[in-house]
Amino acid sequence: MPDSRAIVILTGAGISAESGLETFRSADGLWAQHRIEDVCTPEALARDPALVHRFYDLRRAALNNVAPNPAHEALARLEREHRGSVLIVTQNVDDLHERAGSRNILHMHGALNSALCAACGDRGPWQGSLPPGSVCSICEAPSLRPDIVFFGEIPYEMERIEEALAGADLFVSIGTSGAVYPAAGFVRMAGALGVETLELNLEPSSGSGWFDECRHGPASRLVPVWVDELLAAS
Ligand code: APR
Repeated sequence: MPDSRAIVILTGAGISAESGLETFRSADGLWAQHRIEDVCTPEALARDPALVHRFYDLRRAALNNVAPNPAHEALARLEREHRGSVLIVTQNVDDLHERAGSRNILHMHGALNSALCAACGDRGPWQGSLPPGSVCSICEAPSLRPDIVFFGEIPYEMERIEEALAGADLFVSIGTSGAVYPAAGFVRMAGALGVETLELNLEPSSGSGWFDECRHGPASRLVPVWVDELLAAS
């Protein structure tokens, strides 16, 4: 019987760590170097737009120096070869899933290579530096900001994510600490709906106890092994 299960995959910073991008909560991670209150809240943007824009300019520039790793590539292969649907819900703002070839992706926390107009709400592709006062091509207001969902703001695509979880047969969480909601609650939503749940993470996360199965180790090893197993059983 071919495996046509609907799979929803949540990814976090850990899937991009072996590509060379910093995670948030490791000892030397982004939140050890910068205060969230200084670079990832609406108040920070209002108080010091230059600091906030520069923080994301540096992270956007870092994308030019990294490449997808075997974990991203394995998920792209899964989407190509699995008979059922594969949806990636990523908390990450990098473009490594896209560059690995995945297409069915929801960026719930926004994206570095996108700009958001604070005046008209338009979101559009952006490369390079995004200085404060950059002009929106739609409404011409000098209101472009990094298209990043700050703490205290509503993540993108929540309706589509909840629908996907309700219709899933398998929920897999890869490379996330389970520290931030609503993403950290997806495993419980899935479990309550009878969806099978699997965690692939370097170490036990805050939510490990809610998963049917946990495998711990580097994503670049765990994810290709899991994808090979799943496709071999198809
Ligand atoms: N392979 C697999 N997992 C890894 C690897 C690796 N090579 N390296 C680190 N990890 C795991 C860590 O063990 C940790 O559980 O990835 C997780 C990273 O956790 P965080 O740094 O908290 O990142 P994340 O879970 O994505 O944060 C969620 O918080 O600050 C907000 O918006 C930000 O999207 C982010 C959200």
